[in-house]
Amino acid sequence: MKNSLLRSKKIGVLMGGKSSEREVSLRSGTAIYNSLKSLKYNVAAIDVQDDFCDVLKKKRIDVAFIALHGGHGENGAIQGMLEVMGIPYTGSGVLASALAMDKEASKKVFLYHGIPVPPFKIVRSSEFGVRSSKKGSEPKTRNSELETGFRLPWVVKPASEGSSVGVEIVRDRSKSGKALKKAFSYGDKVIIEKYIEGKEIQIGILNNKVLGGVEVRPSLEFYNYKAKYTSGLTEYILPPELSKKVYERSRNAALSAHLALGCSGATRVDLRVDNNGAPFVLEVNTIPGMTETSLLPKIARLSGLDFPALLEEILGGIEGER
Ligand SMILES: Nc1ncnc2c1ncn2[C@@H]1O[C@H](COP(=O)(O)OP(=O)(O)O)[C@@H](O)[C@H]1O
Ligand SMILES: [Mg+2]
Repeated sequence: MKNSLLRSKKIGVLMGGKSSEREVSLRSGTAIYNSLKSLKYNVAAIDVQDDFCDVLKKKRIDVAFIALHGGHGENGAIQGMLEVMGIPYTGSGVLASALAMDKEASKKVFLYHGIPVPPFKIVRSSEFGVRSSKKGSEPKTRNSELETGFRLPWVVKPASEGSSVGVEIVRDRSKSGKALKKAFSYGDKVIIEKYIEGKEIQIGILNNKVLGGVEVRPSLEFYNYKAKYTSGLTEYILPPELSKKVYERSRNAALSAHLALGCSGATRVDLRVDNNGAPFVLEVNTIPGMTETSLLPKIARLSGLDFPALLEEILGGIEGER
């Protein structure tokens, strides 16, 4: 959507929501709202609560800037609702959002396209005698004698969470039951991956082009929730310390992953790079953190786009007729 056209529109920044990432979303949304306001756009901040539909109608927005992380805001549900209401929105569409949110579905698409992913196994709560679990409940795991077909360490994660919520590294088989129990408390589907020894990098993509990347070096066991959101616990290296060849390979894998899912706008692709320089795609984040100090804005800045310019590029990437 052209910038000149956007000047005549009312932009609603959707933030908050009910997912486990609500707090982070409020921070992203507030940063976006403040920046668009200072650019003199006609902008409204909308906290997505139960009365969301009524609020959306009342506020009469023309365009939505989605700053919701996790849950309905990132899995295609809100996108579908906006589509039905005829409100164009930033970022990926319904299908790409849904695929990216489900780590099983996205991995299967990556495999089809020959994009490298860590060896993985999907396990369902029913296989473990676990009844449909509610978040936070304590399901009983009957079987911890799990066969994955690959060696430890494993990474156990809920299939549809974010921010490393429910993720555990299992180095000792006897600990797998506890890790599964925890992951199942977030949903009925869990993914077990081979732990990729090496580096962790993230690649920012904007409107189908690679923006750049960052290497994350957490001081904790891995890049878990605490390492992500406590300042000083993780070192960020921009650009990543990789040889030109390995960096290029990683950028290509990330862009292929974004394109394979059919993503739009800004995404951040998480990857591991093993000690032989082989990249493995972990996931595509279709609504990356957007505070001024979040990783995607940092990557953008290095490529010459400051925060307001990044927001305008994201808005510019909206397909008006969608
Ligand atoms: N296969 C793996 N090998 C090594 N570390 C991993 C692997 N999978 C996940 N991790 C660690 O767990 C973190 C969260 O995993 P990720 O798949 O990105 O899920 P989330 O959606 O929670 O961010 C990663 O940033 C990484 O530090
Ligand atoms: Mg991640």
